[in-house]
Amino acid sequence: MAIKRIGVLTAGGDAPGMNAAIRGVVRYGLNSKLEVVGILRGWLGLINEELKPLDHHSVSGIINLGGTMLKTARCLEFKTDEGQKQAYQTVKRNLIDGLIVIGGDGSFRAAHQFYKKYNVPCVGIPASIDNDINGIDLTIGLDTAINTAVYALDNIRDTATSMERIFVVEVMGRSSGYIALQVALAGGCEEVIIPEQSFDLNKICHDIVEGNLRGKLSWIIIVAEGAVSAQDIAKNITEMTSLETRAIVLGHIQRGGRPTAFSRILALTLACAAVDCLLAGKADIAVGLEDSRIVEIDLEFATRKKDLPIDKIYRLIKILT
Ligand code: F6P
Repeated sequence: MAIKRIGVLTAGGDAPGMNAAIRGVVRYGLNSKLEVVGILRGWLGLINEELKPLDHHSVSGIINLGGTMLKTARCLEFKTDEGQKQAYQTVKRNLIDGLIVIGGDGSFRAAHQFYKKYNVPCVGIPASIDNDINGIDLTIGLDTAINTAVYALDNIRDTATSMERIFVVEVMGRSSGYIALQVALAGGCEEVIIPEQSFDLNKICHDIVEGNLRGKLSWIIIVAEGAVSAQDIAKNITEMTSLETRAIVLGHIQRGGRPTAFSRILALTLACAAVDCLLAGKADIAVGLEDSRIVEIDLEFATRKKDLPIDKIYRLIKILT
């Protein structure tokens, strides 16, 4: 059956570059003689039939904006049979032939379930700052989030050095330590604590005290939110070393901001590849970048636990400290 009309939605946590991906889907889709319908607030918009026809002009002026013009949400209703049924009724009533789902692992799980149950062709575009999609190297928004965190870290480094203090900085990533590793490496940090690797706080405190005796009076320790809380670690270090230790949670500043050129180019490239997949009659897959090539992966495979090169990056951080 020829694809005539596609829907596009953004789901889960927003990520810088989602707007560039929407722009790519709309303009490439229109160029391919397709109609494109925006679905507001992710899967919730499909359940509530919150649709917005999109034309060339709809996506003007968004390529450089963080967030998503379609809004996004986490949608528990879509986990229910009734929610999925209502979403399917929206798809049928509005003659939508295929869906492009811009989001992370949770969004891909939902797309995979929806396809299995209702045979609606779904193609995923990986957009999440967590970089937790299996089978591909990088998700849209990750590069921007890392740059935002490193910029903040450089500011913290100024005051840590001037006040000769220890800072524990918590970054996002849900259950992945990827952002923490990259930020620690790029920020020249002394230590990093991630969910994928055990840590010895006694050893960390010993190194801090030893360093202090050698005249190394400021430290920055990066912790991934999925591993520990910065507050707890800072409190423990203060108690164990009697050295002033502060905690900072970077939080949602990592989710916003102007997407970097890399995030934009990745978004635009994957958007075109996703539309081509629907035009070719493909479904239940995601597109992504692997070893600098665009690849297509099964949605089920994409949602498995991702293997990260933890040891290699962690060893480099320790050597370069
Ligand atoms: O999935 C992206 C993410 O930013 C995670 O890194 C973080 O743990 C989570 O979203 C925060 O979710 P919310 O914005 O719903 O609080």
